[in-house]
Order: sequence, then structure tokens, then C-alpha cells
Amino acid sequence: MRPDKKILRELLSTEGKENLQALYNKAYDVKKQYVGTTVYLRGLIELSNICSKNCYYCGIRSGNKELTRYQISYEEAIAEAKLCLQMHYGSIVIQAGEREDRTWIEFITKLIKGIKELSEGKLGITLSLGEQKLEVYQQWFEAGAHRYLLRIETSNKELYRSLHPVNHSFEKRLKCLNLIQECGYQVGTGVMIGLPGQTIDDLANDILFFYDLDVDMLGMGPFIPHHNTPLKYLAESFSPLEALTMGLKMIAACRIALKDINIASTTALQALHSEGREMGLKAGANVLMPNITDTKYREGYQLYEGKPGLNETALQFQKQLEKRIFALGETIGYDEWGDSKHYQKKKN
Ligand code: 5AD
Ligand code: SF4
Repeated sequence: MRPDKKILRELLSTEGKENLQALYNKAYDVKKQYVGTTVYLRGLIELSNICSKNCYYCGIRSGNKELTRYQISYEEAIAEAKLCLQMHYGSIVIQAGEREDRTWIEFITKLIKGIKELSEGKLGITLSLGEQKLEVYQQWFEAGAHRYLLRIETSNKELYRSLHPVNHSFEKRLKCLNLIQECGYQVGTGVMIGLPGQTIDDLANDILFFYDLDVDMLGMGPFIPHHNTPLKYLAESFSPLEALTMGLKMIAACRIALKDINIASTTALQALHSEGREMGLKAGANVLMPNITDTKYREGYQLYEGKPGLNETALQFQKQLEKRIFALGETIGYDEWGDSKHYQKKKN
């Protein structure tokens, strides 16, 4: 049933410690009932910070000339995928800035095939590589990728326009989400929470947008100002606690409204609080994306200020993560693709 906007607005307007706890608990009950308490891990590889776009909020926008650009080599990327397998993460996410040139398209195709081969098809492959042509989405799908993440960033067209240069189009982004779906990918989208000018009504509309698009996965996180972007002026008034709370409320509202989809507890939550991602799990999220990018590249991929730079590939880290997840009373879906129940239901 399509969620009721008035109820969404009420959930998103929750205030006060006790009421917030009640909201998170309610979302957790829905999560238990519909998707269970197994956390799925996806190893995230930040393949390149080269980006042809210039979004006003993002630290790796093309206009940021202070950044040294990098691209991880094929061999290094393959080594990271092997690590992913060894750590028993069931799938890998390949993320990078947006590029549409042939060299890049072929490089990604080769990498997808390489990862499929080395893992004998075991590692699931998710792409997060921006807006592309239908043929490119198809080529990558045929090479072996089966999930695609493309955040709409906000479903409010006017707000979208205020956050991007004129040649970035909301309509094109929406079209791309449709193309991705058409190709047969499981589709993930998401928004930033706490954008300048964004209202509770906008966030409620975002949830309705997710419902109408029939998404399988969501990745959302609080907006965090970056010092080298046009939105840097927002750093002064930025409140990490408020941003974290709004992020958690949005996760909880999405879980309550959309029930059986996969929801990631994102790094942006962790940037605001050392236990931000665990809080995300408690508020209804069921996916974590540990960063497996070699630490020497981490500095180059600061989309926002204070992005945690932990070496999450270290075995010691994995032990810690396990402990923290077990402490929440949850288990880890090692070696599993962890498709969303929503997607499985559609398939059947
Ligand atoms: N704060 C939070 N998230 C950001 N992203 C980009 N810049 C920021 C920021 N300043 C997010 C966008 C993008 C994803 C890769 O990172 O939602 O889709
Ligand atoms: Fe590029 Fe994505 Fe950053 Fe926009 S948000 S500048 S497309 S990496």
C-alpha cells in the first residue's frame, strides 16, 4: 500500500529522546518481521575520484582543483576483490566519480569480468558509477554486474536544480534510474538528508518517490558540508547531532513505510558519530558497506568533511565489527549476496 504522506510527515517530525527511541524501536520491529536481523556486508572500493560533474555539495567535484586525482589500476582492484572474498563479504560495490569515455567503459567491463572470474561467480557486483547510456548499462550488466546504485539526491526538482550546475539534469537522472531498471539490475537509490532548503515535506515525498519507483535498495546519509565546495558556508551552522538524528529518523521512516527493501547504514552516519552505523542498524538499516579501498587512496575520496579513514580491511577491524554487530543481537550474512527480500518477492 502506498504510504500515507501525513503519517510519514509525523514520523519524520518525531522529537524528544523517548519518542525517538520509540520510533527506532518500531522500525526495528518492522525490520525483524520483514528482513530479519542478518547484516549483509558489501566491500566498497572507491575506484577513482575523477569526476566530470560539478555538484555543489561534493568534495570530489571537478571544480575542486586542490585534489590530486587517482585511478586504481586493474591489478590493484582485482587484489581488493580477492580480499573481499577472503573476508567472506558476499559482494563488492564499485564506486567512482562519473565518466562516460570509452576507455573507462571498457576498463569497468574488464574489471567486472575479472572479478566474476576470480570469484567463480561468487562475489555479487554492485555498480555506483553514475549516469550512463542504456548500451553502457547493458554492457556492464552482461559482463556480470547485477545491482546499480544511483542516488536521486532529492526528489524535489527545484531543490535538485539549486544544488547542481545547469547542465546537470534531474530528468536525465530519473531517466537513468528507469534504464537501469529496464536492464534488469536490482536498483538502489537514495537522497541526502539535511540539504539546505530541504523540508520535512520533501523527505516525505522522497519516501513516496522510492515507493513509486519500486526500489530494491536504499543508501541515504546526512549532508555534511565540505570546505572546498560552494556549500562550505553551511559548515558554520552545521550540527552533527541534528544531522545524525535526522538521518536516523529517515532510515526508520523508510523501514516502516517500505518494509522489505535493503537499507544501508552509510559511512556519512559514522562520520558524525563513532557508532553512527550501529545506530543506523538499530533504526532499521540492514546493510553495511565497509570500505576496502587501499588506505593510500582514502584521502582522495573525501566527498564530505571528516569521512572516517579507518582501514576497514584489517582483520582486526573485521573482528571488531563482528563483535559490535553481535552485541546488537544481530548476525552477519557472510558469503551471501543478500538480495533484498523485496527483489526476491518480485522475482517469484
Ligand atoms: N555530504 C553527504 N553526502 C555527500 N555525497 C556527496 N557529497 C556529499 C556531502 N557533502 C553523496 C551523494 C552521492 C554519494 C556518492 O555521496 O549522495 O550520490
Ligand atoms: Fe561527481 Fe557524484 Fe560528487 Fe557529483 S556527487 S561531483 S557526480 S562524485
